[in-house]
Amino acid sequence: MAGNGGDWQRDLVRELTDGPRAEGGAPHAPGTGPGPEPEPEPEPEPQAQPSAPVPRQSRDPRTPTPVPESLPTIDPRLAIALGRPRHGDSAVRRAGAGVRRLTASPGREVAEQTRDARELQQPVTTGRVVAVTSIRGGVGKSTVSALLGRTFNHYRQDPVLTLEADAALGTLPVRMGAESVRWSAADLATVLTPAMQLTDVTGYLVPVADGGWLLPAGQGRVGAPLDVATYRTVTLALRRYFAVTVVDCETLPGEVARTAMDTAHARVVVAPMTAEGVHGTRQVLDWLAGLPHSALASTVVALSAATPDATLDAKAAAAHLREPGVTVVPLPYDRHLAQGGPIHTAKLARDTRDAAVRLAAEVMGRAVRVR
Ligand SMILES: Nc1ncnc2c1ncn2[C@@H]1O[C@H](COP(=O)(O)OP(=O)(O)O)[C@@H](O)[C@H]1O
Ligand SMILES: [Mg+2]
Repeated sequence: MAGNGGDWQRDLVRELTDGPRAEGGAPHAPGTGPGPEPEPEPEPEPQAQPSAPVPRQSRDPRTPTPVPESLPTIDPRLAIALGRPRHGDSAVRRAGAGVRRLTASPGREVAEQTRDARELQQPVTTGRVVAVTSIRGGVGKSTVSALLGRTFNHYRQDPVLTLEADAALGTLPVRMGAESVRWSAADLATVLTPAMQLTDVTGYLVPVADGGWLLPAGQGRVGAPLDVATYRTVTLALRRYFAVTVVDCETLPGEVARTAMDTAHARVVVAPMTAEGVHGTRQVLDWLAGLPHSALASTVVALSAATPDATLDAKAAAAHLREPGVTVVPLPYDRHLAQGGPIHTAKLARDTRDAAVRLAAEVMGRAVRVR
C-alpha cells in the first residue's frame, strides 16, 4: 500500500488519526503522542468547515492574522433549487451495464483495475503536485480536479489535498461538497510556518466528506487574484504534509497557471471536445514541449465531453492530441457532472468512474517517475 513508501507518510497519517480532533476541527495541540497503528483517516464531519483556529502560528505573534469569516459556497436558496443529484447513467443504461458486465471478459477488466490501483498507490518520497489547467474556462478543470482529488484520496492512505489556484470565482469548493469556506490560500500563506504539524495545518483546511482536504482560493467573492508568490509559498509549504496535491489552476496563459504547470510534477490539460478546443489544446502542448523538465512527458490530456451534443469525432480528436506524444484519456459526458453542484462519487456513470481512475493512474505514474 501507499503508506509503505516512507516513514514520513506513516507519521503523517498517524498524526492525523491520533486522538479526537479538537472541537470544530481546530488544530491539535502539537506534540501529542503517536497512536498505536496508522488507521484510515477519520471520517470528517460531512461538509463541515472547521471553525477558525486561533492563528497562533502567525509569523509575528504581536500581529495575529485576523480570522476570516466563514461564508457559504453557494446561496442556500440556490442549493435547494439544485434539486436531487441525478445518476450519471440513465436507468436503462445501468440495467444494460449489468448484462454487459456478465458477458465481458472479467480477467482483462480485473487486470486493468489492478494495474491502475498499483499506479495510484505508489509510494512517494516527497509530496507530489499535479496541476490541472486548460486554454479557457468552463471546460471542466474544476470537475477534473475534484475527480482526481477524490480518486487519489480513495486509493491512498496518506493525506491528499485539493488546492484551488483559480481566483476567478472557481467552483472547486462546491464540486468538492464544501458548504462553507473560511481560510483561503492567500490567508494561509501568511500563517504557515515550518514548525507547524499536519494537524495544525488541517485546522485551516476544509475536510472533504469522502476524506482528504480542500484549500479554496478565496471566499467566492470577486477579489484580488492569487499571485505567483502566494502560490509558490503555499504549494512549497504544503508539499511537506500532503502526499499528493491536486491544483485546480486558472486558465492558460495566466501567470499562476504557467507557474503551476512549470513547477508541477505532473500536468493535466483539460481539452473540450470541440474542434477549436482541441486545436487550442495542441498549442498548449507545443508550449509545454518547449519547457524544461520534460514537461510534455509528464502531461496527460483529459478530453472532456461536457455536452451530449458533441459532434467532433472523438477518435480523430484524441489522435490529433496524441501527435506530440502525450497520453489522452477521454472523459465521457456524464449527466451527474453536467448538473453542477457537489460531485457524489456514487452517482457517477460507470464509464466516468473508470475514466477518472485511468486519468489519476496515468497522472500518478508520471508524477512519481519524473524528477
Ligand atoms: N464530463 C462532463 N460531463 C458533463 N458535464 C461536464 C463534464 N465536465 C464538465 N461538465 C460541465 O461543465 C461545467 C463547467 O465545468 P468546470 O469544471 O467548472 O469548468 P472550469 O473549471 O474549467 O471552468 C460543469 O459545471 C459541468 O456542468
Ligand atoms: Mg473552475
